[in-house]
Amino acid sequence: MKTLIDENQLQDGIRRFADEIGRSYTDKPLTLVGVRIASVLVLADLIRLLDMPLRVELLKTRRYQQDDARPGPLAIDLALLSTAVKGRNVLLVDDIFDTGHTLWELIPQVDELGPTSVRTAVFLRKQDRSEVSLKPDFVAFNIPNEFVVGYGLHYRDQYRNLPYVAALTPEERAEELNR
Ligand code: IMP
Ligand code: MG
Repeated sequence: MKTLIDENQLQDGIRRFADEIGRSYTDKPLTLVGVRIASVLVLADLIRLLDMPLRVELLKTRRYQQDDARPGPLAIDLALLSTAVKGRNVLLVDDIFDTGHTLWELIPQVDELGPTSVRTAVFLRKQDRSEVSLKPDFVAFNIPNEFVVGYGLHYRDQYRNLPYVAALTPEERAEELNR
């Protein structure tokens, strides 16, 4: 396992990330919406670092399989979200922007609820992986195209607790499988 972002770099980067977000939402009612459980560490940092009134929601998703086993559309429980979103500025907070499909599918669904704006903040963005014409508005760290864990990101339920970000080689992932 190779450390990509150590604890100090991570905390500095998160502070810069929060500053940038804070500067662009002065005097605007903001709702942070964490995308799934992997976002909660970064979400907790933003809650503590943004010095402004906030609403906070956590969004859970479910992807239905289609008949032919292809992945179906991503479904979220919109009823739960609507009061935190309507007429407010929404910032979707996600752990990692890889292919970009997750945020690409979520944005129009959140838009249906009548927010004033919807923007995206991602902790990590992998280079040269995007398959959609969407760029995250705020990025804490750009990383190479490697499989990473730590700070909320997991591999087979492990490593979410690491206070830094590390890359796992394919061999290390295979070893984990055989345990
Ligand atoms: P998307 O490809 O941008 O839609 O990302 C989908 C999800 O895949 C992310 O939110 C992560 O939960 C997961 N993911 C993508 N790359 C990694 C990785 O390197 N490590 C752990 N999870 C990942
Ligand atoms: Mg995620």
